[in-house]
Amino acid sequence: MKRTKIAGIGYYVPERVVKNDDLSKVMDTSDEWVQERTGIQERRYGRKHEETTSTMAAEATRIACERAGIAPEDIDFIIFATLSPDYYFPGCGVLVQRELGITHKEVGALDVRNQCSGFLYALSIGDQFIRTGTYKNILVVGSEMHSMGLDFSTRGRNVTVIFGDGAGAAILQPTEEPGRGILSTKLHADGTYAEKLAFINPGCHGGYHFKKLGEEVDFGYPSTDTYGEIFLTPRMMQEGQYYPNMEGQFVFKMAVQKFPEVIREALDEAGLQASDIGMLIPHQANLRISQFVQKRLGLRDDQVWNNIQHYGNTTAASVPIALCEAWEAGKIKNGDLVCLAAFGSGFTWASALIRW
Ligand code: COA
Repeated sequence: MKRTKIAGIGYYVPERVVKNDDLSKVMDTSDEWVQERTGIQERRYGRKHEETTSTMAAEATRIACERAGIAPEDIDFIIFATLSPDYYFPGCGVLVQRELGITHKEVGALDVRNQCSGFLYALSIGDQFIRTGTYKNILVVGSEMHSMGLDFSTRGRNVTVIFGDGAGAAILQPTEEPGRGILSTKLHADGTYAEKLAFINPGCHGGYHFKKLGEEVDFGYPSTDTYGEIFLTPRMMQEGQYYPNMEGQFVFKMAVQKFPEVIREALDEAGLQASDIGMLIPHQANLRISQFVQKRLGLRDDQVWNNIQHYGNTTAASVPIALCEAWEAGKIKNGDLVCLAAFGSGFTWASALIRW
């Protein structure tokens, strides 16, 4: 039976390192607070006006292509996961296509908007296309340029200290090797708590969801029956309503429940145990979350890869960056069972089991 293998992976993080102490110069926070609550020591920020979500994705893709032994021109489908796109539309899929100089018209490009589980959703879509024989070289890429859209005043500190920039890419190809490749992907969503971790404005909601939830939020909509000003009002600008917001403790509680659940679901279906996992790559949301998941599953330190200390949370890029780092460090070998897992805004959560 034909399965999907990851034929090449690559990642890119910008050069500029931003330490917790750099942030405490512009907002009321401290290295001690950030490290204690999240494990983060530093993160990377892209070069303003020179690097973007799609250019970083292109950097990661070039490395992944080289390792897969293909040229970017050989890519026949692009799946791009991000929550921080270069443009509201069109998506980053077509921008990375242009950046990579993929000029043939046979290629298709799809953008996935599933935040922290975006890479896993994208991987799952790519897996279906490979197994059905539709495409032979699929690029799955997650990339984020968070630094351009965060609130660097004390008001935004609970969110801003967590996030960083970066990109990770994988080239998917078919394999006939028995037992090898993606064994399963598990995808889940629950929109009940959509606003608990969200970037609300600008948007076309016009306050609808808040009214339905019984919450009074003043977005500064004009009282007259106009349309255009509803998307982005002066109040949204004045009050910084266009920044992400997060109920951290609520998100934390959901994450520590859903990560083990979705990993166990995949293991049970495959008739495997947590002890069979060679490497668990959890989405890098918070070191405390990863440690909790590790403990819950009874995994040793050498079975879990964490790098949030150095990159923060890079959302859709976090899983492929961590996967690539672990592979580069020689911690993932042919035949190993690799488990990817993610949870994030939506809420959406997912896992993938791969026989490397
Ligand atoms: N520096 C210093 N103090 C901060 C701060 C910062 N960067 N951010 C928040 N605080 C303050 C708060 O204002 C609050 O002060 P108060 O007690 O005077 O009101 C205090 O620290 C505690 O805030 P709280 O939000 O309860 O902290 P926490 O222990 O829950 O930690 C998170 C906050 C965000 C680190 C934690 O909730 C978390 O990691 N949640 C999950 C987030 C996540 O994973 N998101 C991505 C999902 S994919």
